[in-house]
Amino acid sequence: MCGIVGYIGNSPVVETLLESLQALEYRGYDSAGVAVLNGEGVVIRKRPGKLKVLAEILRENPIDGKIGIGHTRWATHGEPTEINAHPHTDCTGSLAVVHNGIIENYAALKEMLSAKHHVFRSETDTEVIVHLIEELAKSYPIAEAFRLALKELHGSYAICLLSKQSPQRLFGARNGSPLIVGIGDQESFFASDVPAVLSHTRRIVYLNDKEVVELSSQGPHLFNLEGKKERLKISTVKWDVAAARKGGFPHFMLKEIHEQPSAIEQTLSGRLDATRGRVVFDRRLKSFLEGLSSRQRLVIIACGTAYHAALVGEYMLEEFARIPVDVDLASEFRYRGAMLDSNTTVLAITQSGETADTLAGIRMAKSQGAKVLSICNVVGSSIARESDAVFYTHAGPEIAVASTKAYTSQVTALALLTLYLASLRKRIDAQKRRSLVEGLAKLPQLVDQVLATEASIKAVSARYASCRNFYFLGRRYNYPTALEGALKLKEICPLIHAEGYAAGEMKHGPISLIRKGWPVVFIATHSPVYEKIISNIEEVRARQGDCLVVASESDTTIKRHADSLMTIPRTHEFFSPILAAIPLQLFAYYVADANGCDIDQPPNLAKSVTVE
Ligand code: M6R
Repeated sequence: MCGIVGYIGNSPVVETLLESLQALEYRGYDSAGVAVLNGEGVVIRKRPGKLKVLAEILRENPIDGKIGIGHTRWATHGEPTEINAHPHTDCTGSLAVVHNGIIENYAALKEMLSAKHHVFRSETDTEVIVHLIEELAKSYPIAEAFRLALKELHGSYAICLLSKQSPQRLFGARNGSPLIVGIGDQESFFASDVPAVLSHTRRIVYLNDKEVVELSSQGPHLFNLEGKKERLKISTVKWDVAAARKGGFPHFMLKEIHEQPSAIEQTLSGRLDATRGRVVFDRRLKSFLEGLSSRQRLVIIACGTAYHAALVGEYMLEEFARIPVDVDLASEFRYRGAMLDSNTTVLAITQSGETADTLAGIRMAKSQGAKVLSICNVVGSSIARESDAVFYTHAGPEIAVASTKAYTSQVTALALLTLYLASLRKRIDAQKRRSLVEGLAKLPQLVDQVLATEASIKAVSARYASCRNFYFLGRRYNYPTALEGALKLKEICPLIHAEGYAAGEMKHGPISLIRKGWPVVFIATHSPVYEKIISNIEEVRARQGDCLVVASESDTTIKRHADSLMTIPRTHEFFSPILAAIPLQLFAYYVADANGCDIDQPPNLAKSVTVE
C-alpha cells in the first residue's frame, strides 16, 4: 500500500523524506516522489520504480528546502507511470498532495471540476483532491479549503498537503487509511507508520478517522472535520530504530523468523501464572471474556496468514473450550449476509490492524450488535481502536511482507485465549490446564531449538529450489500449517506455484497431479492422526512423488517414509502448529533466496492491504 511522509523542520528535507520513505518500503510500491517548497515554489520530482531511481534523480537535480512531502505509490487507479506517481499538483502548481486510499466519488468530482476548467494530467483518483482544494481556496484560507475539501470526499484517505501560500505549515488528515504524526525537537513529521520517524522521535500521535492536523516545526494542532480544535494524545513508542531495521540479517523476513522466541515471549508476558498453572488477563480483557464465554457463538475473521492462525484457533477453541466457532475470510464475511446478533462475538485477527476487509468486517459486526475482540500487533491501529477489547500480541514491528513472527504470536495468543476460556467454562481439569500452561511457558525455548536446525533446513531447501510446483499437506491442527507453508512459498517466490490441502482431501482430486519427483511437503508430527498421515505419505510415494516431511525429532520410524526431513521437538499437538510453521518459513526463505527473489518486497504484494 502507499506510504506517505511529510516533514517540516531545520534538516535538509529531501534526505529526511527519502530516509522516511525507505523505512516504509515494506508497504509495497511501484513509484515514488517528493514535493519540496523553496524559493522557486513547489518543486516536484517523481519516478516509476524503486526509491533508488528517485534518489538518483534528486542527486542529479537537488532541491533545497525545509518543508516537503513524499510518497511511495502502490497503483490502484492508473498504471505506475511518472504522471500517475504522487505528489499531484493543482493547475497553478502551488499546491501538492500525497494520498493513500481510494476516493470513491472521484469520477463525479472530476466531472464537476473539469466543468470549472481544472485541467487533469493523471489517471488517478488522487488528483481530484488537489484540484478540489484549489477550487475551494478561491473562497477560503488554505486550512479551511483543505478541511472543506475533505468533507466532499467519499472513500478512504490519508493525505498530506503542501501549499505555497502557507510555507510554515503542512496539513494532514485521515479517514480509513493510517496516518501518524511524529513530534521531534523543532521538527515534525507525518507518516503512514512509526518506523518512518523512529530515527528522529518516539513521540507519536495516532490520528483517528476524520481528524485534521496542521503541522508546524513546533508540533501539531488537531481539529475535527467541523474545524473544532481537539485534544492531542501523545504516545511514546518503545520500539527502537534497530528493531525497525534489519539488525544484520540480509532480509527483514529472516530477522523476523529469528525474532520468534522473543516475540512469543512478549505475547506470553504477564499472561501466565506458573504457580497456579493458569492463564491470567488484565481486567478489561477478563471482563470481555466473561461476556464471550456466555455468548453463544464465536466468529473469527481475518485475511491471509492471519486467517490461517484463525483456523488453528478453531481447532483449539472447539476442542478445549467447547465453544462453537466459525472462521471466515474477512473479504467474504463482509459481503455474505452473515447472521449476527448480540449473542455473537466476532474475533478479528490482524497483524497491522489496518486490513481494509477486516476493518469493514468488524464495523459490520458492531452495527449488528455483535461484540468485537481483536488480536492485533500494531498498537493504536484502526482495528484495535474500534474493537470492544484488544489482545495485543506485542510481537514488535513486522516489516517483511511475508508474515512470520506475527503468525506464531497470533497462534500463541489463541492458545492463551483457549486455555483461559476452557477454564472459565469448566471444560478443562486443573492438571491438564497446568500441563498446557507449562507447555506454553516452554515455547520460546522450543522455537529456539527449531531455529538451531536452520543449516539443515537450508540444505534441504537447496534440494527443492529448482522445483516449480508444490503441495503442502497436513491434518487437524496442522491442516492450517499446510496452508500457511504453501502461502509463504508462493508469496515470496513468485516462480513457484504451491497449494495447501487437508491431507485427507488428496484422494478427492489433487492426487491426480502426482507423478515422478512431484514435491509434497507433509506435516506429520505426533498427533491422533499420525497413522493416517503416514498412509497419505505412502499414497504419494506409490506415485513416485517426493515427500519432504516435517516430523517430531523423536520419531524413529519416519525416515522410512520420507525422502527428506525437517524436524521439530516433540510436543503436544496443541503447540505443534507454532513449531511446525518455523521450518516451513525457513524452507520458503531459502528456496526464494536460491532463486534470487525479492524476499522482503515480492512483486504485486503489499504488507498491509488497506484497500479492498
Ligand atoms: O495485517 P493483517 O494481519 O490483517 O494482514 C493480513 C494479510 O494481508 C497478511 O497476513 C498477508 O497474507 C501476509 N502477507 C502473509 O504473509
